[in-house]
Amino acid sequence: MNHIGVLYGMEESFPPALVERINQLIADRDLPNLRAESLKVGPVLMAEPSGYRVIIDRISQDVPFYRAFLKNAALSGCTVLNNPFWWSADDKFFNYALASRLGIATPRTALLPHKEHPPDTSERSMRNLTYPLDWDSLFAYIGFPAFLKPHSGGGWKSVYKVNSRAEFFKAYDETGTLCMTLQEGIEFEEYYRCYVIGGERVRIMRYDPLQPHELRYVQGNPPPAPKLAARIEADCRTLCHALGYDINTVEFAVRDGVPYAIDFLNPAPDAARESVGEENFAWVVDAVAELAIETATKPATAPEYRWQRILEGR
Ligand SMILES: Nc1ncnc2c1ncn2[C@@H]1O[C@H](COP(=O)(O)OP(=O)(O)O)[C@@H](O)[C@H]1O
Ligand SMILES: [Mg+2]
Repeated sequence: MNHIGVLYGMEESFPPALVERINQLIADRDLPNLRAESLKVGPVLMAEPSGYRVIIDRISQDVPFYRAFLKNAALSGCTVLNNPFWWSADDKFFNYALASRLGIATPRTALLPHKEHPPDTSERSMRNLTYPLDWDSLFAYIGFPAFLKPHSGGGWKSVYKVNSRAEFFKAYDETGTLCMTLQEGIEFEEYYRCYVIGGERVRIMRYDPLQPHELRYVQGNPPPAPKLAARIEADCRTLCHALGYDINTVEFAVRDGVPYAIDFLNPAPDAARESVGEENFAWVVDAVAELAIETATKPATAPEYRWQRILEGR
């Protein structure tokens, strides 16, 4: 029996809908020896197979126990969507740098030293840092308005829009030990959030970040102009292939017709029915279900890991 497991946290609507949809597709297509379920895990023994062929991970970013369990599962041929090794290595600042190298329109972005020393460090740990910092060159490069936001974060936590030096320093003072980036603010005429599933299936959703949470996915989902839509789709695929994400959302702010990639490290993207709306919800449940089945029914060609070669005696 090839099990497909769904691992999740506080979300209510997406995980059960996904399990149900996968099992329905399995029944419709008469696929033998395949079943989806809500994953169960207790204490994890080293190198022990997880019992799952595919795991869809919605929560290990918040639970180190789950992240470590998923890596152990991968060792025995389980495919985890998204790959926990990739995801552990990424940060948003690297992703912006990579995107700019890939020719994607990217807001100018800089990495800042922590405002306060990270836990268990002192000024003696920071002796390689230039001091005082050259703020003038930095502000000349980024400009205002700008966004001060964590180099790896999510859920709009610690995201500040700053319009001046004074506002920047006031916000920076509040960031404590977080590692922050400063980014050119894109004054956009349109904003889109896109699901990208399996690096290929793209759903472009009109999004209005200036509205209250429950109104951000724009009613009726007005599409971008065809040429812009084609560029957004192509950029979504380029980014997700390069980053190795199976499940992601990519956000674009459109200025003068150019889609700037704003946020594309969302491997457990919001998929709650009450937030994304019925049509987007149905789309993402179906796309992830198809991906899970595709993955479970093809021979396990796991991504290349260094340890694999040694285990296989190569
Ligand atoms: N460079 C930017 N230009 C314009 N708006 C931005 C920019 N960076 C962030 N924002 C706004 O702030 C919101 C949150 O920032 P984001 O990078 O998506 O962080 P998070 O991962 O916390 O969602 C975005 O949805 C967007 O509305
Ligand atoms: Mg975001």
